[in-house]
Amino acid sequence: MRIGVLTAGGDCPGLNAVIRSVVHRAVAGHNDEVIGFEDGFRGLLDGQYRKLDLEAVSGILARGGTILGSSRLERGRLLEACEQGRDMARQFGIDVLIPIGGEGTLTASRMLSDAGLPVVGVPKTIDNDISATDRTFGFDTAVGVATEAMDRLKTTAESHQRVMVVEVMGRHAGWIALESGMAGGAHGICLPERPFQIEALVEMIEERFARGKKFAVVCVAEGARPAEGTMPYKKGVIDQYGHERFAGIGNMLAAELEQRLGKEAKPVILGHVQRGGTPTAYDRVLATRFGWHAVEAAHRGEFGMMTALHGTDIEMVPLAEAVSELKRVPASRMDEAESVF
Ligand code: F6P
Repeated sequence: MRIGVLTAGGDCPGLNAVIRSVVHRAVAGHNDEVIGFEDGFRGLLDGQYRKLDLEAVSGILARGGTILGSSRLERGRLLEACEQGRDMARQFGIDVLIPIGGEGTLTASRMLSDAGLPVVGVPKTIDNDISATDRTFGFDTAVGVATEAMDRLKTTAESHQRVMVVEVMGRHAGWIALESGMAGGAHGICLPERPFQIEALVEMIEERFARGKKFAVVCVAEGARPAEGTMPYKKGVIDQYGHERFAGIGNMLAAELEQRLGKEAKPVILGHVQRGGTPTAYDRVLATRFGWHAVEAAHRGEFGMMTALHGTDIEMVPLAEAVSELKRVPASRMDEAESVF
């Protein structure tokens, strides 16, 4: 079997672990041939690819990023790629394509599959917002980075009696903010799923200082918003990929808290630090299992499907199911988090 693999969308720790696992299982386990397309779907459209053998993936398990490169593709070019799906498979002689990506990539993969290209998807995103799988790799690493940042910020915040507003990634789903906020002992957590009340945050922080505590940490997801009309809030613009370029809720919230509390409030934007660097052991294992199962599914001819973690098992689910809706933080998880403040 000749397998094509690509990584598309925002990168994520664990991508290399999937690539390595696909190559090991395919080449050593099935005597397959694997080619890797460069820079996501762009490589597929432009015919840029290289052969991936065991030597090519040696030493990449713990490496962040993706050795294949990644890109976001404008919708027009993506549609073009989907229309050409069947022809491209013939042109490159691939029997199956394994795209590794988030919601956008999986949507494109489903379209490619519908266009007649045999596809087995692997989900990835640090946001953990793909509904058909319990977890995506990259999330554990991102939560670890954000948690460590909060641990560190607490000591300097206490020395200077400051409020720290830590902005983490999470556009539509606040999983990183929820779990790093819990693990890092944040005193307030603001998620995209529930508009936050600035007044409640102010009261909570004033009450802490009144009890003799000398600092506070608020963890805010980049997609969080204040309740309508409660504080100044600027919406972002939509970029060419259809994503909102956020105007910076961390900065807005810190400025508002500083003004209302009369205390120093510092914004700390963690940004892409959460996506870079080596994956945690958990993410390496999940990524490796996804790669192994993707190759097995390809050999069983289970196309139009994607690997998914259900409990502790890896199962195959239809790509259509994977992209039907985003997995947002449910109210019950928010209530659990609130009870620890
Ligand atoms: O979807 C993953 C993600 O890391 C989001 O959390 C974040 O908003 C976005 O990608 C950032 O994308 P870019 O790297 O294109 O700025």
